[in-house]
Parts: sequence; structure tokens; C-alpha cells
Amino acid sequence: MLRPDQYQRAGELLSRGDLVVIPTETVYGLGASALASAAIGAVFDAKERPRDNPLIVHVGELAAALDLVPPDLGLTRRILETYAPGPITVILPAPAWAVPEVRGGLPTIAVRVPSPEITRKAIIAAGVPVAAPSANRSGRPSPTTVAMAIEEMDGRVAAILDGGPCTVGIESTIVDARSDREVVILRPGRITAAEIARDLGCVVRLRDAEDVPTPGTRYRHYTPRVPVVLVPADELDAARKEAKRLPAWTELSLQRFGDFATYEENLYRAFWDAERAGHAVILAELPPEGSAEGLTDRLRRAAVGEYRRGELGRFVGGRFFG
Ligand code: TXA
Ligand code: MG
Repeated sequence: MLRPDQYQRAGELLSRGDLVVIPTETVYGLGASALASAAIGAVFDAKERPRDNPLIVHVGELAAALDLVPPDLGLTRRILETYAPGPITVILPAPAWAVPEVRGGLPTIAVRVPSPEITRKAIIAAGVPVAAPSANRSGRPSPTTVAMAIEEMDGRVAAILDGGPCTVGIESTIVDARSDREVVILRPGRITAAEIARDLGCVVRLRDAEDVPTPGTRYRHYTPRVPVVLVPADELDAARKEAKRLPAWTELSLQRFGDFATYEENLYRAFWDAERAGHAVILAELPPEGSAEGLTDRLRRAAVGEYRRGELGRFVGGRFFG
């Protein structure tokens, strides 16, 4: 374990090709030098991740990200200038140094500048760009606390840099603005389509079936062992009444968290806690259509279905409902 003030040591380990778990504002990442094929190979092994799913490259400051943007990609440049450092990832033409293992064989790379100062200092100390997927084993929740990161990666990495709990709680918004005319959101996140359209005055759309898929979306996504049931806000009371017949259950709702940002911040940790506590079900309030699109996306991927009155037992199983 490295304390927050030991970021320099994290950088040294990264520069010599070791794996280091690094904090970011979104989720903890499993970092390795983006220039070292062997280190990248070790990342795929530690994560048990398919090799054709490319990694996000993290750089330590905005200027380093802007250096990678070709002159004709003005929209991509503006996105970085507006949101980086922050929970945004942009797709860029791959520079010569990006080894094929990082790109998953694609001619592009995904780049982001994480917010925490200790993480940016660690990357700068490393002196190399740092490839970092989320620090979970494939099919597990992305860690958003040090305890979760330890559970995922203990024994598989040289060090874990402690940055405390993540403040965003879901993975970054990934955008492709290489057309220079519109922004295509490949993975929704805290920074929303509406926000980008408003801030940049440009067309923003979510990736559709016509587009080349984000490689990662082809793979099975994390679903907690405790079934997640989506509940529209006006059905929460009915769902709660049914859930009261269960020994123990988790509720994720505005009433519990206060706002959707806090809900998002605590999402993966709440899944993890529910698993450890052996709860029968997770009732998850569904944000209204068109709001909190990152949270909605992760909830839909994690869920077994949507609540209907009198039918909670369908998801929970005969174990509790007879
Ligand atoms: O918030 C985040 O982005 C976190 C933290 C650690 O930075 N990282 C993260 O990485 O979520 P990962 O590997 O779990 O997800 C990366 C996603 C995958 O879906 C991958 O397919 C996609 O980014 N990706 C990476 N390179 C790409 C590229 N060149 N073109 C399109 N998608 C790409
Ligand atoms: Mg991931």
C-alpha cells in the first residue's frame, strides 16, 4: 500500500514496467506503462481481460493530452480544454508509441487526464503515458474504494496508491469527435450529452447501431450476485412493501442519496456492500428518462429486469417468496 504522499514511488514502479493500482475521480485504475508491451500484457492477465479490448491511456496534464490532438481536430481539442482534467475520455488517432496491445489492434487510442493531483503527479513522475483499465477482474464491479481495489488486485500488482473513495463513482464519458462536426458518445458518464451540447454548442448524439461499437461493450458487463431490480420512482412504495417480506434488502434511491450524483458516486460500492451482506434484492430507483444517463446506463446493464407489482418474487426466487 502506498500512502497518498507516496505518489513518487508509484511513478517509479510504473516507469520500470510494474503494475500499480491508481486512484482516479471515476474508479480505481490498473496502471501500467503504455510503452511497455510486457507490462500491458500483465494488465490483461491481472484483469483476466480479453486481449482485443483496448485500454484507456492516462496522461498527467492537459498539455500532454493536447499534444496528441492533430491540428484538424478542433472539436476534440475544445472538449479537452473544457473538461480535462476530469471524467472525459477522447478517441484520437494512435501515436507511433502506442503499442498494439494498448490499442487492441485499432488505429486509435482512448486518452484521458484524471483529476486527482496525486495521480497526475504519479504519471508525471513515471515519465510515460499510463494505460489503465478499471482495476476490477473481468465481470466484477469497478472498484471505487481502496478496500474494493484491494479485494480485486491484492497479490496481482506491485502497489496500490491510496487516494480515498472515488468522487464520481462510474467510469468516464468516452467521446469520439474525430469527424470534427459532431460528438458521438461511446460510453455515457457523469458528463452528459446535454452538457456537452450546451457547453460547446455542437451536435451530440449517443452511439447507435450503425456506428462501430466500442470494443468493451461487446463483453459481458458486471451484474451483482444480488439481483438488481429497476423501479420507476412512482412504484418505489409498492416495491418497498413487497420487499418487506424479505429478510434483508438494499434500496438505491433519491430518498437515500439525496441526488443522482451522490447515487452515482455510491453505486458500485452499494452493489459490493449488498453482496457482502448477502441481501436478497437491490431495489434501484430508475432516473427519469433523459436524466443521469451514465447512472441509467450502468443500472440497466447491472439489472435483471424492471419491477412490476406483485412480481418481485420473479426476480428474487422461490427462496424467499415460496
Ligand atoms: O473512468 C475510466 O475511464 C476508468 C478509469 C480507470 O480511468 N477506466 C476505464 O477503463 O473505464 P476500461 O478499460 O474499464 O474501459 C475502457 C473502455 C472500454 O470499453 C474500451 O473498449 C474502450 O474504453 N476503448 C479503449 N480504447 C478505445 C478505442 N481506441 N476506441 C474505442 N473504444 C476504446
Ligand atoms: Mg472496466
